[in-house]
Amino acid sequence: METLRINMRRKCWIGVLLCAFAVWDITEGQIRYTIPEEQNEGTVVGNIAKDLDLKLSDVFERNLRIAVESGKQYFGVDPTKGELIVKERIDRENLCGQSAICILPLEVITENPLQLHRFEIEIQDINDNSPIFQNKENSLNVYESTAPGARFRLESAQDPDVGSNSLRTYTLSKNDHFALDVKIAKDGSRVPELVLEKSLDREKQSIVSLTLTALDGGKPARSGTTKISVRVLDTNDNAPVFEKAQYDEQISENAALGVVVLTVKAVDLDEGANKELNYSFGPHTPDTLSNLFSVDPVSGEIKIQNKIDYETDRSFDFDIVARDKGSPPMEGVCSVHLDILDVNDNAPEIILKSSPSPVREDAPSGTVVALISTRDLDNGDNGQVSLTLLPGTPFSLKTSLTNHYTLITEQKLDREAHVAYTVGIIAADSGSPQLTSKQELLVNVLDVNDNAPVFTQPSYTVHVKENSAAGSILCSVTASDPDQGENAKVSYSILDSRLLDTPLSSYIYINSENGSIFSMHSFDHEKMKVFQFRVQAKDHGSPSLSSNATVHVFIVDQNDNAPAVIYPSTFMGSVSHQRMSRSVKAGHLVTKVTAVDADSGHNAWISYRLAEATDASLFSVTFHTGEVRTKRSVSEQDDSSQRLLIEIRDNGEPVQSTTVTVDVLIEDGFHEPISDFTHKHTEPEKKSSKITLYLIVSLASVSLLCLLTFLVLLVKCARGSRGGSSCCVRRSDSEYKKPNRNLQMIPAQH
Ligand SMILES: *[C@@H]1O[C@H](CO)[C@@H](O)[C@H](O)[C@H]1NC(C)=O
Ligand SMILES: *[C@@H]1O[C@H](CO)[C@@H](O)[C@H](O)[C@H]1NC(C)=O
Repeated sequence: METLRINMRRKCWIGVLLCAFAVWDITEGQIRYTIPEEQNEGTVVGNIAKDLDLKLSDVFERNLRIAVESGKQYFGVDPTKGELIVKERIDRENLCGQSAICILPLEVITENPLQLHRFEIEIQDINDNSPIFQNKENSLNVYESTAPGARFRLESAQDPDVGSNSLRTYTLSKNDHFALDVKIAKDGSRVPELVLEKSLDREKQSIVSLTLTALDGGKPARSGTTKISVRVLDTNDNAPVFEKAQYDEQISENAALGVVVLTVKAVDLDEGANKELNYSFGPHTPDTLSNLFSVDPVSGEIKIQNKIDYETDRSFDFDIVARDKGSPPMEGVCSVHLDILDVNDNAPEIILKSSPSPVREDAPSGTVVALISTRDLDNGDNGQVSLTLLPGTPFSLKTSLTNHYTLITEQKLDREAHVAYTVGIIAADSGSPQLTSKQELLVNVLDVNDNAPVFTQPSYTVHVKENSAAGSILCSVTASDPDQGENAKVSYSILDSRLLDTPLSSYIYINSENGSIFSMHSFDHEKMKVFQFRVQAKDHGSPSLSSNATVHVFIVDQNDNAPAVIYPSTFMGSVSHQRMSRSVKAGHLVTKVTAVDADSGHNAWISYRLAEATDASLFSVTFHTGEVRTKRSVSEQDDSSQRLLIEIRDNGEPVQSTTVTVDVLIEDGFHEPISDFTHKHTEPEKKSSKITLYLIVSLASVSLLCLLTFLVLLVKCARGSRGGSSCCVRRSDSEYKKPNRNLQMIPAQH
């Protein structure tokens, strides 16, 4: 029995069916119990004793028991009641897997006689398993551009239960885009599929979260879920859009290079490269503009790249394109309008419409000298120009039209004071800071003959020696004329035509070019001591101007006349004869020699000297007076005839002299020397008294003439309104004309 049991057990482990057939052969009938799985321990399956027709006592006595060989002991026998009870929890799925019918064979042994009874216990499925998804979370990538109708296979759930407890259906959480379709595969399994019903838009919803629920057919049904995240993949379906369609900005001209004018910004709703933007100038942007500005492709900053000049461009309009890096790329465009603000960066210009014309010095004030205009490229106040003159010139500005000026004279000019003027003109605009510019004009002053020549002296005095050679230079007169050119060229001439009834040209000649005056013949002081004439200096202007000067010529005396003996008269012969008594004492006046000299001054000083004598011890001649006297008494031995040679000299240089010879006859008994002498000298005395008379008469007449002239002048002066000077000049003139001024008077004999 024991071995059988062991064999049976072994056989059962080899094959339950084989074993059963063996038992089946032994027992008469077969009993099948049906219990649901998962019964608690102690649950009664059936009453074996009763079903085997055994009494309760037999249960104990025949040792009713379950064959050990039949595998795991799920069941046991209650010996008191003979009932089959569950000893261990039974899991149908574990025992039978997916088999639709799960039968557990059971062998019961009774002893006395040893009998083997065969039972079958059918384990019924209960819905003790929920459908299970292998992954609790699934993700699915779907391009937003995917067209509706697209299908996406989902993971199937597993449910180990069988029959109606097995997996029946799937449901999908409520959503806007997807529907669920369950397909039945060839093996009968159900395969869930997502069907895109409404197209996705990543920009609205980038992730669609779904819950898939699997349901079995149990009652109540059990379920399992899995989460499905549908990641909506980006498609480049959004163009970049600028924050503003139109950007307006202002920027000063001359703004520093690199300054950011403005920043444009576009937004692209896409993702990744599809939203990465690249900024650039729009197509058709002229090169000039792209040279001035730059666009940062990444930041969208528009910077100044080159100097902006308001005077060239007052505003700029251009487009900026933002392009994403999607494939194909998409673009957005905005417009930029830049207003350039003027900065006072242009200095005013001074434009000469005509180069300044030279001005006549006598031009009336207000004469136009130059036409000037101004220009400033700046705008508004920056371009408002005012023109001023630097002080110090006799000019002023007159404005006619806007920005047009005339430079005019303010007063009469004087070329002799200023030959030319440098006129400084300053142009200043009204900008801040102010800009100025300066220009200098040279205005030449043209000469006008407004200055007469001027002599270096109002009158010239010349001393000329008499007898000097004809053609010698007397003097040079000079006149200067401050004018220019022909107006300053001076010619000299002599105004007076006659001198003492003689043409003046026979006395003097003037070089008209240089004013040198020459004598035409030699002068004789004894004939003419002084004369005067007027010279004129005349310029070559038109009309010409002139001035006069007086030249006084004094003829200086030369010792050109020898003394002339007046007494004793020698016209009877060269020898004068005198008689004298032998009885005369020493100091007796024998005779007196008298001489005159036509020269004047020193040249007319006369001295007498005894040059030779028959007896030099007897006579002497007084040096100054020319008296001839005896030095001693005449003795008997003295010759009766004595000859004296008397030299008469003047004081000139060289000395001029003359001699006179006096014969003295010494007579004995000549008693009336005085009377005789007087008598003897009647002739010469008569002659000298005659001369004296002439002298007196002429002196008187001259004095009378002088007095008369003086009176006439006095009357004229008193009457006339003319200045005293002219009278004086006239008086002095008449003085010069006084004749014979140097005539020497012969002293009376007594
Ligand atoms: C003026 O000219 C004359 C003739 O040529 C000359 O003899 C004279 O010396 C000149 N006078 C002067 C001041 O140069
Ligand atoms: C110079 O003399 C001329 C002739 O006598 C005369 O007409 C003229 O007025 C005089 N000029 C001057 C400045 O004295």
